[in-house]
Amino acid sequence: MATDRTSIHGQWSSRWIFILAATGSAVGLGNIWRFPYITAEHGGGAFVLIYLVCIVLVGLPIMMSEIMLGRRGRRSPIHTMEVLAEEEGRNRHWRLVGVMGVFAGFFILTFYSVVAGWTLAYIVRAVSGMFTQAGAQQTQDIFAALVSDPERLLAWHTLFMIMTVFVISRGVKKGLEQAVRYLMPALFLLLLFLVAYSMTTAGFSQAVAYLFKPDFSQVGPSTILVALGQAFFSLSLGMGAIMTYGSYLSGRASIPGTSVSIVVMDTGVALLAGLAIFPIMFTFGLQPEEGGPGLIFKILPIAFGQMAYGRVLAVIFFTLLMFAAWTSALSILEPITAWLVEKTGFTRLKAAIWSGTFAWILGLGSLLSLNLWSGVKLFGMTFFSLMEYLSVNIMLPVGGLFISLFAAWFMARSSSFAELGLSRRAYLAWKVGAMFIAPAGVILILLQEFFGFLG
Ligand code: PHE
Repeated sequence: MATDRTSIHGQWSSRWIFILAATGSAVGLGNIWRFPYITAEHGGGAFVLIYLVCIVLVGLPIMMSEIMLGRRGRRSPIHTMEVLAEEEGRNRHWRLVGVMGVFAGFFILTFYSVVAGWTLAYIVRAVSGMFTQAGAQQTQDIFAALVSDPERLLAWHTLFMIMTVFVISRGVKKGLEQAVRYLMPALFLLLLFLVAYSMTTAGFSQAVAYLFKPDFSQVGPSTILVALGQAFFSLSLGMGAIMTYGSYLSGRASIPGTSVSIVVMDTGVALLAGLAIFPIMFTFGLQPEEGGPGLIFKILPIAFGQMAYGRVLAVIFFTLLMFAAWTSALSILEPITAWLVEKTGFTRLKAAIWSGTFAWILGLGSLLSLNLWSGVKLFGMTFFSLMEYLSVNIMLPVGGLFISLFAAWFMARSSSFAELGLSRRAYLAWKVGAMFIAPAGVILILLQEFFGFLG
């Protein structure tokens, strides 16, 4: 039986709005900033293939599980896990899945807000026409000047965090629903346009081969873990963001169809970003692996600088990217804020300010690790890369693992069946995915990372 619980935080006006909001959460810096540079660091096609396998076999069943749990619990992740565990007669400690999600959210925000700050900075640079006729050297200098200046980074990081807290404090429904409706399709169109431009460049076929012809000699021991982490990160899974959005979803909407739409759109945007960026890189004789986290910020301006109306297009592109980052950041802060409201009775405003301030302070670590603290290493990583590694590669997969284990092994069949609303066959497919394939995938990949038995 579906339950008649409702969320105290409100409900999406329709299933379609939920899809847009969840897509807004999924499509972000992960697709356009992170996917291309991670792909480049891991040798291209083989990485892309492993990533796609992770999306389908691990991401999709967990996406369905997360939405299902959220909609059934109708509270922020910690409380949802608590309520459901109790209802199913399970241990209360399942709430720790939600607790880890809160930590993962803070860790992600530390670097997310800093990189989102770069997009804000680049809107200004695009408006001022800095990229016109800029060559590879100049765009690299422009990027280096930005990240080596803590004061500038601080200003953008602060602005982005204020923007995020502002929307969250008003509740997701007001404003955000409207924004996502137009911005996501616009971003999609602009990416298509950039791909069309890239198709005219000399490097296009080389880029297609690079992205889609797997060369397994490039697969290193940690490639699979990185692909898995990227799948979780890009789909916003494993920390309760999608669970929280699911808790605002009407009881009638079909979870499987919804999940497939989100996954397809998210993956489409990542592949388009790759097809837009790599051709330009090859055309200008740049080596993908050299890009690092600054990749798109150094590469795309070269193309904008060359094309007709490039200045206008650059402004539009970085604005849309900023919006994509914004709608994702909202979904990272939302679970934490909703939890604070439920737990303490704070107003949304107060809860949003508290969680935003905490994330802002942690973000200073990431910000400074790009310049003043670049020599400070923990486990061989800067603060920025440590936060990224821990949250994306470890916490999200582990969170997702427990989410699927709970949904498939610890919930009564009658509960999950009622909530998912599937035909028997589709239910079976979900169950096999969430019970065996997704958990086994995550466990094997994590074991491989720590004990290295596969290679
Ligand atoms: N999916 C977002 C992106 O691709 C990032 C994100 C991760 C959002 C985890 C919410 C939760 O940019």
